[in-house]
Amino acid sequence: MMKLIAVVAIAFGVAAAQTEMPEQAKRGMEAFLNTSKGTACGTCHSLAGKGMEVGPDLTRLSRVPPRGFVAAIKSTVTQYVQMVELKDGSPFPGIQKDKQWWDLSKRPPELRQGQVEKTSPNSKWTHPPANTDYSNRELADIIAYVKWVGYKSVVAIEPEELE
Ligand code: HEC
Repeated sequence: MMKLIAVVAIAFGVAAAQTEMPEQAKRGMEAFLNTSKGTACGTCHSLAGKGMEVGPDLTRLSRVPPRGFVAAIKSTVTQYVQMVELKDGSPFPGIQKDKQWWDLSKRPPELRQGQVEKTSPNSKWTHPPANTDYSNRELADIIAYVKWVGYKSVVAIEPEELE
């Protein structure tokens, strides 16, 4: 009986150890929420309930190969952002969430009320990390964090994989 309990306890210990967030993902989380470079990802994206849920959900991309993920981060082409003109007020680059428009020219983004006059394709707004010189190490850490949140991946992402 004691032996069985010991085996069960060890099995639990191993399972718990496996589901602990790896150091790399922890660094990635820190960079995601509080980087000193540029605007932190968490200003616009939310992961594991932390950050602001205005930008797209990144867990959908958690299985994209690391280089593809970096290409998405660095992309200067936008898919969702629109230039929004309200009946009154100046135009702003916005993203729609639950039928409401968020003004991305503000950091953090701000909810804008008012009747929309028209929207047109974005030509002004650039994804901030496209212009921020993150090192491959920092990007690898952030991707490791996204993968951890997305599917509990504990696989290390080597900075060299991103070259
Ligand atoms: C100022 C707000 C803001 C910040 C800061 C920001 N993002 Fe974004 N991000 C967005 C918006 C808005 C989009 C959607 C752009 C578009 O229209 O395609 C986006 C798109 C993305 C995409 C592509 C998503 C998809 O579904 O195609 C990835 C990946 C991404 N961001 C990762 C990051 C990471 C990682 C960081 C930090 C290094 C970051 N973002 C910082 C607002 C932001």
